[in-house]
Amino acid sequence: MSSIKHHITKDGSSTLYSDVFEQYYHNPNGAVSESRHVFFETPGLVDQLQMADAQLSIFEMGFGTGLNFLLLLDYCSKLNVNIPIHFYSVEAFPVTTETIDAINYEEILEDDVYKPFLKTLFSSLQKGWNTFSINTHPTIELHLFYGLFDELSAPENKIDFFFHDPFSPEVNDELWTAETFKKLKAMANINSVLSTYCAASKARAALAKAGWNIARAKGALGKREMTIASLNQEKLSGFKRLNESRLIERLDGGDFD
Ligand SMILES: C[S@@+](CC[C@H](N)C(=O)[O-])C[C@H]1O[C@@H](n2cnc3c(N)ncnc32)[C@H](O)[C@@H]1O
Repeated sequence: MSSIKHHITKDGSSTLYSDVFEQYYHNPNGAVSESRHVFFETPGLVDQLQMADAQLSIFEMGFGTGLNFLLLLDYCSKLNVNIPIHFYSVEAFPVTTETIDAINYEEILEDDVYKPFLKTLFSSLQKGWNTFSINTHPTIELHLFYGLFDELSAPENKIDFFFHDPFSPEVNDELWTAETFKKLKAMANINSVLSTYCAASKARAALAKAGWNIARAKGALGKREMTIASLNQEKLSGFKRLNESRLIERLDGGDFD
């Protein structure tokens, strides 16, 4: 029996439930709504897509169903964005094409090429980096690393936006450590913005320990908070800043062990 089950969230979009991690891939109150809020609207990516005249690079932690990549394609279609975009992502446990058959993003995003694209992708993945392009968006490249984040070799381009989207720290601990955020920092440029749905102090402390400036932002769909980070404090000027030194003290003092 498969360890991954399909589920419809409250905004009508699909998510999956992993029996191994004992967690949904997205917020059960709305997969598409939360992803738009956390990764596209709050960190300013929607604005950046419309302003940027050069190229953009995005790194996603955890490709999962491919929803965030499909949302990027959807924004680019609707906003008429034609700049070169490199979307990097990592996935150690890819889903099967049968699982992809069940998800409904092509209905929500009204595009009938998305499902065949994902099915081809999941049936042809090789260990290490894989590059895919999609006919409808010739300026966008997807670079998907099939393997553990620990094994990932840094992408060629410095990253402008990080979508930090693993399972929660309770069940996916290795992706919320200071070492992980240090590795992301090495992939960043000074103006990069990292966003995550997670508001846990332990995750924020690990980000601070790795040298990121951090702030809280309004969470999606009734969640009180999410977290946003940058190496450039000015990028966080519209948000309520957190006390990095205090969080590091608590981490070093064993508060989160
Ligand atoms: C919450 S889901 C990601 C959801 C995804 N962004 C989407 O929109 O569907 C987390 C993903 O991270 C993957 N993952 C967990 N631990 C990992 C690791 N150490 N390295 C790489 N991928 C990992 C899981 O298999 C899962 O697909």
